Amino acid sequence: MAITLFLNKKKPILGRCIDDYSTKMRLRYAPFYHAMDAQKGTTIQLDGKEMIMLSSNDYLGLSFHPKVVEAGRAALLKWGTSTTGARPSNGSRTYHLELEQKIAAFLGREACHIHAAGYLSCLASVAAFAQKGDVILADKNVHSCLWDGIRLSNATVERFSHNNPEDLREVIATANPQAPKMIVIEGVYSMEGHIARLPELAEIAEEHGCFTVLDDAHGFGVLGRQGRGTVDHFGLNDNVDVICGSLSKSLASTGGFVAASSDVIEFLRTHSKQTIFSAAISPTQAACAQASLEIMQSEPQHLEKLWLNTKKYRAILKGLGFDTWDSETPAVPIVLGSKERVYPFWKALLEKGIFTVMATSPAVPAGKDLIRTAVSAMHTDEQLEKIAAAMAYAAKKL
Ligand SMILES: Cc1ncc(COP(=O)(O)O)c(C=O)c1O
Repeated sequence: MAITLFLNKKKPILGRCIDDYSTKMRLRYAPFYHAMDAQKGTTIQLDGKEMIMLSSNDYLGLSFHPKVVEAGRAALLKWGTSTTGARPSNGSRTYHLELEQKIAAFLGREACHIHAAGYLSCLASVAAFAQKGDVILADKNVHSCLWDGIRLSNATVERFSHNNPEDLREVIATANPQAPKMIVIEGVYSMEGHIARLPELAEIAEEHGCFTVLDDAHGFGVLGRQGRGTVDHFGLNDNVDVICGSLSKSLASTGGFVAASSDVIEFLRTHSKQTIFSAAISPTQAACAQASLEIMQSEPQHLEKLWLNTKKYRAILKGLGFDTWDSETPAVPIVLGSKERVYPFWKALLEKGIFTVMATSPAVPAGKDLIRTAVSAMHTDEQLEKIAAAMAYAAKKL
């Protein structure tokens, strides 16, 4: 104790780390950072116990697909582990260009740039294009990476109510009419499972000359023809300027992409610090994403199975009377409303062999504390039955 006090005084920042209440609570209740001992598709092993994974973003279930695994292995042997360099200097390889061309073509865009994390791609999609003096209109529930991009841009930010074009219209009416404007939204909201009301939002963007950035991390692979995403789902390819997303969800890899016109992507390559000063995506990551992209186009059964499972899973939750926040997609929250209800529910599921993730305020709006679940094409009927039984058990703990 005396030593801690002495340290806190001598090094206040170190003291902040040692005394942090949130960290102490996290370590005490241990709801996060669980390291699994083993995984095979939707079956995991945690502390020696077999469990069903119900919170992964492997929507299409491709992370153990033999073609994806083989593509990663072959790339590792051919290209080594890493380029150990940034794209503008020594880190560019032909496989980067190949994947970029394939993603761009799939999304009906002229060009694409890939990064080593979706977080970087989405952050850069805002920070590279907006600047001081601009006005950014952001859905108040967008992902943390987009908020970081907004902050780094130095633009003025105005939030509008979640997925609410009427509110966007009101907010935009009060903004400086002369200022260049950007709208920042997600295609599918990761916690809520809501699909953006893109037709109405795009109409407002058009009326006000707004540059539109849409993060489709959870729509890519899930919505649209062959999984082309939210923009394709609505047939609005001409209305969105930038589609960014992640390779770590339906594409069963890690990394991210920004897809847009050639002018926009070349501007990004000139000005985006995240693009210029961070090492290129690794050969294995790129190859796995590319193999998944090819499978999305040649094996439609994964997308079909995903939606079949989503229907079955939603019916289970509805039968139990859960509040799923009107989720429309495979990302399904179970809203319980308070930390006191979320924690025992999550623990009861764990006890029954179901792994989920909890999200509590301020990560979600107050009163919306929830269990975040996501169904995959890989879940079997037997697993869904086990999930149903565990949910019924957890409901009794509330
Ligand atoms: C909406 C959204 N955008 C971006 C990201 C970042 O992607 P990545 O995990 O590939 O860095 C995530 C990840 O959870 C996300 O949910």
